[in-house]
Amino acid sequence: MTTPPSGHRQNGPDWWRQAAVYQIYPRSFADSDGDGLGDIPGVTSRLPYLSELGIDAVWLSPFYPSALADGGYDVADYRNVDPRLGTLEDFDAMVAEAHRFGIKVIVDIVPNHTSEDHEWFQAALRAAPGSPERERYIFREGKGENGELPPADWQSAFGGPAWHRLPDGWWYLHIFAPEQPDLNWDNPEVRADFRKTLRFWSDRGVDGFRIDVANALVKDLSDPLRDMGNRTYREQMESIEDGTHPFLDRDEVHEIYREWREVFNEYDPPRVGVAEAYVQNHRLVLYARPEGLGQAFNFEYLKTGWSATELRSVVDVSLRTAQEAGASATWVLSNHDVIRHTSRFALPDDADHEAWLLSGGTEPRADTERGLRRARAATLLELALPGSAYMYQGEELGLPEAAGIAEEDLQDPVWERSSHTRKGRDGCRVPLPWTRGGTSFGFGGDPWLPQPADFGAQSVEAQEGEEGSTLELYREALRLRHKLVGTDESLRWISSAETEEAGLLHFVRPDGWHCVTNFSTEAAPLPDGEVLLSSGPLGTGGQLPGETTVWLRTADPAAG
Ligand code: NOJ
Repeated sequence: MTTPPSGHRQNGPDWWRQAAVYQIYPRSFADSDGDGLGDIPGVTSRLPYLSELGIDAVWLSPFYPSALADGGYDVADYRNVDPRLGTLEDFDAMVAEAHRFGIKVIVDIVPNHTSEDHEWFQAALRAAPGSPERERYIFREGKGENGELPPADWQSAFGGPAWHRLPDGWWYLHIFAPEQPDLNWDNPEVRADFRKTLRFWSDRGVDGFRIDVANALVKDLSDPLRDMGNRTYREQMESIEDGTHPFLDRDEVHEIYREWREVFNEYDPPRVGVAEAYVQNHRLVLYARPEGLGQAFNFEYLKTGWSATELRSVVDVSLRTAQEAGASATWVLSNHDVIRHTSRFALPDDADHEAWLLSGGTEPRADTERGLRRARAATLLELALPGSAYMYQGEELGLPEAAGIAEEDLQDPVWERSSHTRKGRDGCRVPLPWTRGGTSFGFGGDPWLPQPADFGAQSVEAQEGEEGSTLELYREALRLRHKLVGTDESLRWISSAETEEAGLLHFVRPDGWHCVTNFSTEAAPLPDGEVLLSSGPLGTGGQLPGETTVWLRTADPAAG
């Protein structure tokens, strides 16, 4: 058994404020029993790897029983482990081992919708209209002469109407896939059951929760339901401002999180929450408040192209938003819902990402070397920013998107629901390569999504101990970060609008820790200071090459 390192991770109630959190997509991480699906014992077996990587916490995407209509975000039982992924005992063992390594555990909670297989929904299907069983979900009669039209024109996030009609003529709401019926959060029984779930996992030692679509739980169900002019879900998300939309970001949702906060605070240290809420910044504050969930994802960095000026304003706005909330900032470059950033950065700035995926990753051509160079620079920049960094499994290997998955192998409901106009998110969910060769590159059995033929060259085995590899860069960056990050979350800009225009972004953290990124393709003079780490080779003669980040330290406290 590997001995856990001691004491380099933050403890106490504020451990999350500047944590490096590693997102595990359990079905694609490590498969211990060879059935082709990653599992909980697989996670446990790789904790020494994660400890050595230097992360502070893991966030596990759903591992609950699920028919996988939406990659596990269709939960059939919130207080259990999918038998294909293990047992509750396996889960307890994983948490105990993670804690032994000083790694905190965050789990995903999916409160907006259940799976259609959830016992509540099955009971609702058997029960009569108007019954208490149906009151846990959102059932309505249709419009039109014979109720043949949906009750409102609301659109599903995956495409198509957000309502599904049952053989008895009634419709139910599903903001995501039809297999994911939306719960009725006006129902006290639903509220009580989720508080029970939060306590269930907290009692098992879980340190925090990532809350799926935290902004969608409450709906305005007053009759008649308000039509939204058939605008797509995405269009609506981008335009809501004031908390009165019929099903997104309603003000009343915060009553729920106030109640959840009371549950979190029953524990010592209090359990933490991080909201997944695609809302405008001034609304995000409400989710991230200490009396709410405490932190919220900020997807701005992820959405920003390769530009010093844009990123500067994103950092400023994000820090301001977090400060207003009394939370720390969060930074994300990749997750299980987006094209991996190594590939995003390999595409021309104006590339249409959906079209690129549809072309199987051939059109436009991806400049993979550039993508990796930029991705590594973006990571060092991210890890120097104040706040928590949420990293996605495989990014420490610099994995690109697996864009070539054959249509018949696609699993994401987005593909079917969008009538084959959006390929979906499978390309970032391909099981990880652990070894250079062998069955599924050391993942386990025949993988549930096909891996690219050349995956072995990017495996952990191929990168471990290799100077200059992306894995070693992450390890070194996280090791240094632990030493450099204190409790002070301040940042001071050194670069000016003018130098940023030329592509140079430069800030300094307390104790003279400088981070300089050269976004341009031309080398620039390297500022003074001791070089701690750089995302790529530095030029001779004090030059910072293009598309490279460097961490420097200056002795002069006035400089930092
Ligand atoms: C957000 C999750 O990240 C995504 O994967 C899922 O499809 C939706 N919420 C619905 O649960």
